[in-house]
Amino acid sequence: MTIPGFRGWGLALCAGLLLAACGGGSDAAPPASGGGDATALSAAAQLGQKIFADTALSASGTQSCASCHVASSAFAEDATASGVDRGSPVPVGGAGMNQTGFRNTPSLMYASLTPAFYIDADGGPNGGFFRDGRAATLEAQALMPFTTSFEMANADASAVVARLKTRPYLADFETLYGAAVLDDPTTALERMGQALAAYERENPAFHPFSSKYDYFQKGQAQLTAQELRGLALFNSATQGNCSACHPSTSGDGVTPPMFTDFSYDNLGVPRNSLIPANTPSAPADTPVDSDDGVHTYYDLGVCGPFREQTVDFFSNCGQFKVPTLRNIAVTGPYFHNGRFATLKDAIGFYVRRDTNPEQWYPTNPDGTVTKFDDLPAIYGGQFVVTPGVVGSDAGYLGNVNTSEIPYNRHIGDAPALTPDEIDDVITFLCTLTDGFDPANPTAQVLPAQCQAAASPAAAAVPRTSLSR
Ligand code: HEC
Ligand code: HEC
Repeated sequence: MTIPGFRGWGLALCAGLLLAACGGGSDAAPPASGGGDATALSAAAQLGQKIFADTALSASGTQSCASCHVASSAFAEDATASGVDRGSPVPVGGAGMNQTGFRNTPSLMYASLTPAFYIDADGGPNGGFFRDGRAATLEAQALMPFTTSFEMANADASAVVARLKTRPYLADFETLYGAAVLDDPTTALERMGQALAAYERENPAFHPFSSKYDYFQKGQAQLTAQELRGLALFNSATQGNCSACHPSTSGDGVTPPMFTDFSYDNLGVPRNSLIPANTPSAPADTPVDSDDGVHTYYDLGVCGPFREQTVDFFSNCGQFKVPTLRNIAVTGPYFHNGRFATLKDAIGFYVRRDTNPEQWYPTNPDGTVTKFDDLPAIYGGQFVVTPGVVGSDAGYLGNVNTSEIPYNRHIGDAPALTPDEIDDVITFLCTLTDGFDPANPTAQVLPAQCQAAASPAAAAVPRTSLSR
């Protein structure tokens, strides 16, 4: 499916942005610490750095970009301060810091290497920012949290600029963009977005390429036998098949692998009842979307409710952007709704979604299982699975990917990965954690879930030809 006259524009825009975005993504990885030396940043990026951390730009006076995008959690939310341990996978914001959000906060690491949103040759969405791609560019994204009611919650651009005028770096802003810009709040806010985007593009802390896997690809680190098994399973077209959407090799032969192809897919991730919007006590500003008599609110990703310029393809409803898997071991919980706290569950879901649906979806009183329970039943019946009987799918439920490995299974089939093999894939994913020091390969402390998956006998083996 294509949008007439739209495809060419999309591709041209992407190519232009890729050039700008990826030009700096060279092979030369900065030191592992990659702490973001401010002296190396342009004036715009230095201004962006100050804005990024400034809580005084929010209506509550207590929230900045850095509150939700925490450096020590790979610029995702700190799951110990919120997320999993707080019992909610979505952030809190608003003028009174009492409004819950709707989606799990993604990592900002490597986000600046995402191409601008475009419709690809197959007519599908690609690139763009937010989990639904509704911000075409990083610049466009960066100004949105300031006026989002459940985030930094300013009433409008004028309110943001009024706060900006009280800040010690106002002079930097005026020097860079001219004082006259402040008279036009919309343009002034756009300039703030440009400064933030410059910071995300230029600060090496956002894209250090300092994982063990990066050094392995350059021949400067060894993977253990278990990590190599995990990599092979990750790439295997008949088992994990993960690399089909999360490529482990470079796309252009220059930029290291991104572990996302920037496409969108519908995995049928189960509904998360820990998100307030998914419960009867939903926040007042919860959109009523796709009311099917079961729930009033569904998050259909590319189709809304947050995306305004809807990609009006029925088949795209329920799709979310494929995220990078770099630093995945430290950015839980997982998926757009934070449904899974651990990689073990996230990967278990991939390989046993169709062989053991009762492990992931609600079981009804009659013993049947309602699969894909986070998609509305309008335009079709619910996807109810009775053991031994092939389910019927229709409407939005038919959009779930059920053809590609590892999702092409049925009850009674063997899962695509055994529990030991899932552990192998986890240990491989843990090699995507930045901050590895090739001179001191045992120094990096990985999260507990990495240590739990590692088999004690794992020993380093020489680098093989498995390189980019
Ligand atoms: C209250 C928490 C919160 C605050 C504050 C916040 N963000 Fe986010 N950020 C999120 C969430 C949640 C998402 C995903 C939302 C979605 O997909 O609809 C997100 C998405 C993003 C993305 C898209 C990443 C991608 O890969 O598509 C970028 C970039 C980003 N934020 C940058 C910023 C900047 C810059 C600021 C400050 C101006 C900021 N954020 C403030 C929670 C927050
Ligand atoms: C057909 C494409 C496709 C394949 C194959 C695939 N993924 Fe994904 N992956 C996605 C999409 C799309 C998402 C985001 C879904 C969402 O948020 O609802 C995702 C999300 C994830 C996440 C959560 C990321 C985060 O930041 O929350 C993990 C972990 C993950 N994938 C690992 C894997 C592994 C391991 C495999 C192989 C077993 C795999 N994926 C195979 C498309 C794919």
